[in-house]
Amino acid sequence: MVTPNILAISGSVRAASSNLNLLKAIENRLPPGMLRYSIGVDQLPPFNPDLDQAGMPVPEAVATFRRQIADADAVLICTPEYAFGVPGTLKNALDWTVSSGSLNEKPVAAVTASPLYTGGDKAMASLLPTLKALGTRMPAPSSLCIPSINKFLSAEGTFTDNQLAAQLQQLMDHLVMRASEHSIHS
Ligand SMILES: Cc1cc2nc3c(=O)[nH]c(=O)nc-3n(C[C@H](O)[C@H](O)[C@H](O)COP(=O)(O)O)c2cc1C
Repeated sequence: MVTPNILAISGSVRAASSNLNLLKAIENRLPPGMLRYSIGVDQLPPFNPDLDQAGMPVPEAVATFRRQIADADAVLICTPEYAFGVPGTLKNALDWTVSSGSLNEKPVAAVTASPLYTGGDKAMASLLPTLKALGTRMPAPSSLCIPSINKFLSAEGTFTDNQLAAQLQQLMDHLVMRASEHSIHS
């Protein structure tokens, strides 16, 4: 059986990002090679429909991002919350997938992680309708807000809260299962 592949998209572009560290911790718990990383969302130009006309070539980074999504059996988004919303760079990247339909019918899971007790819940509340508009498939459990990420994830990559760790495991098991189904049927 072919191992499904999951594309990880980090909503943070910081080198020392806790969301990126969380993705790495998730990657270490998956079979080798299952999780791949998208290009940085900061590499995509500002979305402009004038650069997104049918039959015209799109900027190279956009083509790469779309191809990475198309090649993935599922997508995992892990993002911080900025100013009570989705980071502009992540929203910009998602806007580039509207006309291409790259995420249409794609199994997707979304995680917000924040040092605050709210866990980035307002970013999640904004992200989910966007992903719905893009045609993603997100049956529960497909989203999780992780509060106090700096305490939850140690420098060694261990999870300190058993209940949250179990929720994250459940979310990933579910995504891998849906990725396998997508892989088989595509
Ligand atoms: C300009 C700015 C705005 C922020 N706004 C929020 C916010 O609205 N909600 C929140 O939970 N954290 C907010 N934070 C804190 C981020 O969650 C924190 O910096 C986090 O570490 C960023 O994620 P990262 O470590 O993956 O880069 C903000 C940080 C900055 C610099």
